[in-house]
Amino acid sequence: MAQAKAQRLTGRRPTETRVEMVQVVLPNDANPLGNILGGTVMHLIDIAGAIAAHRHSRSYVVTASVDGVNFARPIRVGQVIMLRSEVTRAFHTSMEVEVKVYLEDYVKEERRLTSSAYVTYVAVDQQLRPKPVPPLIVRTPAEKRRYREALARRRRRLAEAAKARRHFQEEI
Ligand SMILES: CC(C)(COP(=O)(O)OP(=O)(O)OC[C@H]1O[C@@H](n2cnc3c(N)ncnc32)[C@H](O)[C@@H]1OP(=O)(O)O)[C@@H](O)C(=O)NCCC(=O)NCCS
Repeated sequence: MAQAKAQRLTGRRPTETRVEMVQVVLPNDANPLGNILGGTVMHLIDIAGAIAAHRHSRSYVVTASVDGVNFARPIRVGQVIMLRSEVTRAFHTSMEVEVKVYLEDYVKEERRLTSSAYVTYVAVDQQLRPKPVPPLIVRTPAEKRRYREALARRRRRLAEAAKARRHFQEEI
């Protein structure tokens, strides 16, 4: 039992959590102008991010928050949407995952970044109680930079979450 627990908390490298997801945009995913719906992109961001969090934690996860998402350019029906995700920092029970969204045009042979988001997932047990996650082992300068910057983002989002909670309580 103790050995199983130690194994579960063995640190992992960001590359071990990396996910690449590719999908063709079909008419059902699009608005009447033929561009992918923002909600569809957000759904795919959540899936790609959750798989990276699963890979890191080997656990069930729930989405705790999504930092602001922008849609820089449309992705059209028939084009390919590509998502890349990776854990940038593990805290105690939560993990920050960066998800990048690209438009891949196989006719023009180009790939362009269209959106990116930081999503926080919390590892939970069967009763949905938060449980500890393994540490993230960062080695390269880019991994270390993202890891450092994640702390400032966490402070900002937890302050926002506290503000939202106060607002919810006032509404009840
Ligand atoms: C996320 C959730 C598990 C947190 O539960 P909680 O009782 O607040 O638990 P805690 O206060 O112990 O926080 C657990 C972790 O979540 C983090 N957390 C809580 N709210 C957060 C938020 N809004 N953004 C980012 N992280 C958050 C905490 O910082 C903590 O992380 P740490 O252990 O790494 O320090 C709980 O709020 C929940 O189940 N929310 C619904 C999740 C869901 O259903 N998502 C799908 C969309 S509805």
